[in-house]
Amino acid sequence: MKMWSGRFRQPLDPEFERWQRSFDFDRRLLTYELAASGAHARALREAGILSSDELITILQGLEKIGELAASSPAFLDDPDAEDVHHFVEKQLVALVGDVGYRLHSGRSRNEQIATDLRLYVRAAIDQLRADLAEFGYALVDCARQSGDAAMPAYTHTQQAEPVLVAHWLLAYLEMFLRDAERLGDCRRRLNLSPLGSGAVAGATLPLDRRAIASGLGFDGVTANSIDATSDRDFVLEFVHALSLLAMHLSRWAEEMILFSSQEFGFVGLPEAYSTGSSAMPQKKNPDLLELTRGKAARVIGCATSLLVTLKGLPLAYNKDLQETQEPLFDAADAMLTLVPLATKWTKAATFHYDRMREAAQSGFMNAWAAATYLVQRGVPFRLAHEQIGKAVQICLEKQCELHQLSLAELQALNPAFGSDFFDCLTLESVLSIHDVAGGTAPARVQQALAAAQQRIKSICEEVHAHA
Ligand code: ARG
Repeated sequence: MKMWSGRFRQPLDPEFERWQRSFDFDRRLLTYELAASGAHARALREAGILSSDELITILQGLEKIGELAASSPAFLDDPDAEDVHHFVEKQLVALVGDVGYRLHSGRSRNEQIATDLRLYVRAAIDQLRADLAEFGYALVDCARQSGDAAMPAYTHTQQAEPVLVAHWLLAYLEMFLRDAERLGDCRRRLNLSPLGSGAVAGATLPLDRRAIASGLGFDGVTANSIDATSDRDFVLEFVHALSLLAMHLSRWAEEMILFSSQEFGFVGLPEAYSTGSSAMPQKKNPDLLELTRGKAARVIGCATSLLVTLKGLPLAYNKDLQETQEPLFDAADAMLTLVPLATKWTKAATFHYDRMREAAQSGFMNAWAAATYLVQRGVPFRLAHEQIGKAVQICLEKQCELHQLSLAELQALNPAFGSDFFDCLTLESVLSIHDVAGGTAPARVQQALAAAQQRIKSICEEVHAHA
């Protein structure tokens, strides 16, 4: 039986009927639909609409639906179900008889879908935060293993200053920690129960909304039934947080691709996550990384499509809202499958520290440190900059590095140069002068590693507390 056919004199056009259904994609909300239905049934019992026996019958029916769906995917192949809400009602009646029709007392699909989606997003956030913590630990391990290895850091894609490899890896960790924390913020805001909001004006029965909410692990109830039934901010916020995550992963992937090219040779591509070419026998291609960049486009598209769907909607529920489900699922699937793969890639990748060190030691990346040497001897920075620039000019002509100039050549530029100048040019010395919080000096990077590890641990603790 349909959920709404009474006032209709004509049947629906079958093509339209099929087209407007959502069961093909909202079937994945079944677990949440069953949980929310159980909580509603308990509230109906408290409100005197169901007897205790009826409640037990309905709860057993709901449990059975869950079991059948888990044991056989074919159970969900229901050609008549309009959406997941209709499916559950139909199956419940098939299993327990007409008492199943009592479950829909005092509720609307508008509040049900709002609830199911909140539960879905909440679970996806918990899974993603756990996955991001794993990824974070993999980056920390990589950073620790790199020890005191150094590499060039780039600005404008031109060699700028040497940094510790660990410092570079921790830059990515910062992005992913922000993503995990941002998802945590999103979770806090969404964790309110819309149940009891009815179709738009609130439930027509005296349901204990707080009891329903706490039964489903919500922190409280939504404040306004009109808003609660039409709000998808939590979907937007989640998918926008995912688009930032996807963008970070894409930047990470882009740099790994670049650094794995023969010209850089900093990163060795793990074979298990690469593919060959059907034409060129020598090729090993970074497919995982390239698809990571590609997935970002998709997730950003989902975020855009959600904003556009919502922006013109008058209050309250409109069927357009059904169109928010697929971009949500698509973006969540993309990130839920990608983050664990990025973790595995990171664990399997190799770093060619010798190549990195070689690159970090040439190309005048100690020039700023050299100017700082003069500043410490009282030379105004702008003049020091000019004089080191001149020294670089001489080196370019002679095809050598700064440490290969003679003291006499240097003193011709500025008498403040002493023989200790050469000590400040070594890679180790250049790294260690960046001795500020957040800088690349080895002791600072050790502190940053410990702090990052602590932040990952807090995320894991929060995820466990929610489990
Ligand atoms: N499948 C619908 C959706 O996703 C469920 C809510 C239907 N409500 C309604 N008034 N037709 O939005």
